[in-house]
Amino acid sequence: MNYSNGPIGLFDSGVGGLTVARAIARKLPKESIIYFGDTAHLPYGEKSPDAIRTFSLRICQHLIKNGAKAIVIACNSASSVAFEYLEERINVPIFNVIDPLIDELQKMKPKGIGVWGTHATINSKVYNHKLEKLLPGIPVYPLATPLLVPLIEENHLNGEITDSIIQHYLKESKISNLDHLVLACTHYPLIASQISKHLDMRVTLLRTPTIVADWISIELANLGLLQKEKNTINHSFEVSDYTETFKKISGIFFGDGILLKEQNIWKSADSI
Ligand code: DGL
Repeated sequence: MNYSNGPIGLFDSGVGGLTVARAIARKLPKESIIYFGDTAHLPYGEKSPDAIRTFSLRICQHLIKNGAKAIVIACNSASSVAFEYLEERINVPIFNVIDPLIDELQKMKPKGIGVWGTHATINSKVYNHKLEKLLPGIPVYPLATPLLVPLIEENHLNGEITDSIIQHYLKESKISNLDHLVLACTHYPLIASQISKHLDMRVTLLRTPTIVADWISIELANLGLLQKEKNTINHSFEVSDYTETFKKISGIFFGDGILLKEQNIWKSADSI
């Protein structure tokens, strides 16, 4: 069997990981994608690390059963608390979305770094630990910004409510001390232009999806897992609970013709 022919598996709690999926599809146009949005358990940011690990492992087993040659955890919350746990338990290469961002920050020589993420990501302190190691002495200002995910899942990508919540969080961030702001949740790129509007020119917003896609393309090439032959692209999108918002946003990203399937993977366990 030629493993490089399989799709790249990605998962998130909802639409956020689609920002990463689209960047990967653009960067690697010969690759097919299999995406799982765990909408039944959204938001991951409010779940315990144990619950996130259990959901994530089940999803990985499902993606592998459906041919995934590698898995991208397209979710910061799951990357924060479940990456090592999954790495020990699954038999295909797996990537988180945090290491590419840390690597990029290192190149940018920041003086003060703001990190916006879910409670799960911020409470895990994973950004603090990784940044302290690689950029010792550089102040890091993490802030849990939990109102943004429900807002985005409700398709409030701009407008008054979105603006006032962003402004509220910017006030809470020590913004005058920052020159870099990391959107440490894969949902947030969907409102990146709204956030930029309120930032002064001094602050660089990290573009998570393209940074992650560049990293994944290098890693898959190094592993010899990139598609070698020309083949038909076959993206597939599944959710654990069908929602109109997911359908709408996935259509914006991948075209209205996409087939979205509801898949209850919690009933039976796939073995890998
Ligand atoms: N998109 C996710 C993240 O990057 C999950 C958001 C959530 O479900 O709370 O953390």
